[in-house]
Amino acid sequence: MRIALAHGDGIGPEIMDATIELLRAAGCAQAIEFVPVEMGKSVFEKGDSRGMTDAAMATVESCGLLLKGPMETPKGGGGKSINVTARKVWNAFANLRHFRTLPGVATPYSAAGISLDFVIVRENIEDTYGGIEHRLSSDVMQCKRLISAPGSDCVHRFAFETARRLGITKVHCGHKANIMKMTDGLFLERFRTVAAEYPEIETADVIVDALCMNLVMKPQQYRMIVLPNLQGDIVSDLAAGLVGGLGFAPSANIGSQISIFEAVHGTAPDIAGKGIANPCSLILSTLMLLRHVGLVGRAARLENALLASLEQGVRTGDFGDRSKPALGTMDFARAVAQRLGQRPSAIEPVREGEDRLVAKPPVRPSKPIVLRTMKVAQSAIVGADLYLDSDQPSEALAPALESLAAGTPFRLTLISNRGTQVWPTGSVYTECVDYWRARFELRPGSGPADQGHVVALLSAVAKRYTVCSHELLRTFDGKPGYSLAQGQ
Ligand code: NAI
Repeated sequence: MRIALAHGDGIGPEIMDATIELLRAAGCAQAIEFVPVEMGKSVFEKGDSRGMTDAAMATVESCGLLLKGPMETPKGGGGKSINVTARKVWNAFANLRHFRTLPGVATPYSAAGISLDFVIVRENIEDTYGGIEHRLSSDVMQCKRLISAPGSDCVHRFAFETARRLGITKVHCGHKANIMKMTDGLFLERFRTVAAEYPEIETADVIVDALCMNLVMKPQQYRMIVLPNLQGDIVSDLAAGLVGGLGFAPSANIGSQISIFEAVHGTAPDIAGKGIANPCSLILSTLMLLRHVGLVGRAARLENALLASLEQGVRTGDFGDRSKPALGTMDFARAVAQRLGQRPSAIEPVREGEDRLVAKPPVRPSKPIVLRTMKVAQSAIVGADLYLDSDQPSEALAPALESLAAGTPFRLTLISNRGTQVWPTGSVYTECVDYWRARFELRPGSGPADQGHVVALLSAVAKRYTVCSHELLRTFDGKPGYSLAQGQ
């Protein structure tokens, strides 16, 4: 089996070398050939904004599996995150993270005798991670948040399949559908639809803010939580904190053809090159990789050795019993390798079954794939929201916009600012910024509208204002496909 291997930046090469050494000691070299690929900082520095070479892309696409170290992303301006790019271009739609109490890793919960063991499945491609951002006016920036039915279905189905495989009997959906009724509403509705295919699994939903509190107050009530991308990103780091920090949180990015396994933490520039980084997160991620391809026997042997090591106080400097010596990254891996064959005694060891290779090389799609979930709805244009860059107040905008729309089938029905209605009614206390939404709807008695009418409206309004963008107001099978403004 060929697996593409990217060492990563910062502490990446250190923790990767230690992990590979451990895999070798566990006899994985007989089953796996690692194929090095060039990705990350060195590629960005050569001017390739993708952060990976053509050869690296070809290797990952032929192997279908990538084990990667953390990679540096410039903050704010500069190149896009290579980590997000890799998940998105290869459609690794589900991020799977396992959080559990580990021996030798002290947390407030372990001190209280509370043992944690739960899984978070995060949607990995959509949401604000589309990275579709624009400057709209002098003062306003926008990030577009996209949630699709097929994208939600993929992650929910993966979550339920994983729950079934792991014997998890209850799955929660975390969301913010009380506020984002259309986007998170769709994510939740698809959760319920897919759940119907798994009647043996109990389901519940929880609003993400309450989920965060519950996770701190009583984390043991959860076994699996599925979340949209950004909320899942935040909640999974919170969850990592419950079990001892990012150094112990493994992560798998699962796609239908290509999957990526990586540590959750970043490149830790503050300790890079010192040989002191904790390799546990990458080792645990690699165990997920071994299980994914069916090397369950080797994974269990390795995991038992790791658990036994942690139990015996084997540690790097960032955790554990300070009275025991802190090992460097490679020595930590060697200490685990020396314990191959041992099992933890204070906790249940992992059952050591037989390896059964199940991974298949990816099947290259013969044509571009367009996913569809819903039946094609009958849609009709009933208006348009025009977004304007202007520092005029709504009292000045309204009459001007009404007269500009005079020759079109549309009339101005509302103006909102930052989502709150400010015209025709509103509160003087609503503070506004220099970016407005003007909603135009069909005049009573006007016939059906088409995009030509909207373009005519746009061009009339653009004579006087900067129209940054527009959204069609459409009904789908007679139901409005747009939300009301706050206060409307
Ligand atoms: P970070 O996770 O690299 O570091 C946060 C803190 O945790 C630092 O004090 C660091 O020393 C410590 N730490 C992290 N991993 C550790 C380990 N294995 N052993 C011991 N201590 C460890 O997060 P930060 O500083 O926000 O990000 C640094 C860079 O990493 C950025 O360029 C960021 O974009 C990138 N990054 C990459 C990820 C990936 O490749 N999947 C994920 C997260 C961040």
